[in-house]
Amino acid sequence: MSTNQPHGGVLINRINFSYDITKVSKKIELDAFALSDLELLAIGAYSPLTGFLGKADYESVVYNMRLADGTVWSLPITLPVTEAVAAQLAPGDMAQLVYEGTVYGVIEVQELYTPNKEIEAENVYGTTEIKHPGVKKLWERPGVYVAGPITLIKRPKKNRFKEFYLDPAETRAVFAERGWYTVVGFQTRNPVHRAHEYIQKTALEIVDGLFLNPLVGETKADDIPADIRMESYQVLLQNYYPLDRVFLAVFPAAMRYAGPREAIFHAIVRKNYGCTHFIVGRDHAGVGNYYGTYDAQRIFLNFSPEELGITPLFFEHSFYCKKCGNMASTKTCPHSAEDHLHLSGTKVREMLSRGEAPPPEFSRPEVVEVLIRGMKVAIGN
Ligand code: ADX
Repeated sequence: MSTNQPHGGVLINRINFSYDITKVSKKIELDAFALSDLELLAIGAYSPLTGFLGKADYESVVYNMRLADGTVWSLPITLPVTEAVAAQLAPGDMAQLVYEGTVYGVIEVQELYTPNKEIEAENVYGTTEIKHPGVKKLWERPGVYVAGPITLIKRPKKNRFKEFYLDPAETRAVFAERGWYTVVGFQTRNPVHRAHEYIQKTALEIVDGLFLNPLVGETKADDIPADIRMESYQVLLQNYYPLDRVFLAVFPAAMRYAGPREAIFHAIVRKNYGCTHFIVGRDHAGVGNYYGTYDAQRIFLNFSPEELGITPLFFEHSFYCKKCGNMASTKTCPHSAEDHLHLSGTKVREMLSRGEAPPPEFSRPEVVEVLIRGMKVAIGN
């Protein structure tokens, strides 16, 4: 049985398909980002949160990486609306949560407040530069936050890979059924290349199971689309992983690119899915040069192991070393950078979209084949 407790002690469930919305006349339009947060709140992935953050929790998270009661929580989960929408709402109202004409949930409005986005950007993303994709998104979204507990009344549609959408209660049951006491979670928004495989398998040497949990919500336009990645994960697992020790399911959240703060968030969410350990490698959830290579590891020092309740496993920059003749990291390889095979994400994407295969020391040929085929379809040639 998986031993780990949800964050805050109780796995939240805010799903009620028989909720009567006929008496709820007010409406809030969601964007795709808020719809994914609504679902993740409802299924308990964000336990102990039961809704979008109120002002006291929001400010405490932004300034101290904790909810107002002291529980560790590093990213504000908020529901932004325009001033026009906010003007129609008051504390005590119920409002339908609507996405593209369909009602997915309701919120019990407890508060409406105007955030200071400069401070949110600086504290959460470490920058106010608008070219940072998380900061850009923050400014693109409207300026008033609506807070209160939510109920999900309809599941958002899953078009492909339905079998890989599991709720935290379901992944916990899978881990228990497999007899895994210790499970390491792996977050990714990329195809799994040899460096990822190396750190995953190194971690798997010391735990019972690996939970490969790719993020498939909104990512920036130049990240490889989730459906192409999903196919690549499956061929990788079939060819190179012990299937009784690995489990693949998606994480339907949007990517924030908040680096260190997102690493804490990613770890806590995986705790809710039942993991006991979580991998944090180089520049976790980073983008451009906004964060130092190991900032996302150092941030864990702010919290005690008890209050986090999931053990981070830190890995240094990993690569194939020609002199070693195998995968290694800056910690285990004595050779110089010229002996290391290094390809940037941009370079790899360029190669793939030209139909050119990165070397097998960088990525498994079966994975490359899927990516090249997928990119051809994606860019329409
Ligand atoms: S992320 O935005 O989801 O973090 P990515 O999918 O590239 O991006 O990374 C997934 C995980 O693997 C993160 O923990 C990251 O730190 C780690 N990682 C990626 N590449 C390397 C590498 N070459 N060496 C060590 N860790 C890595």
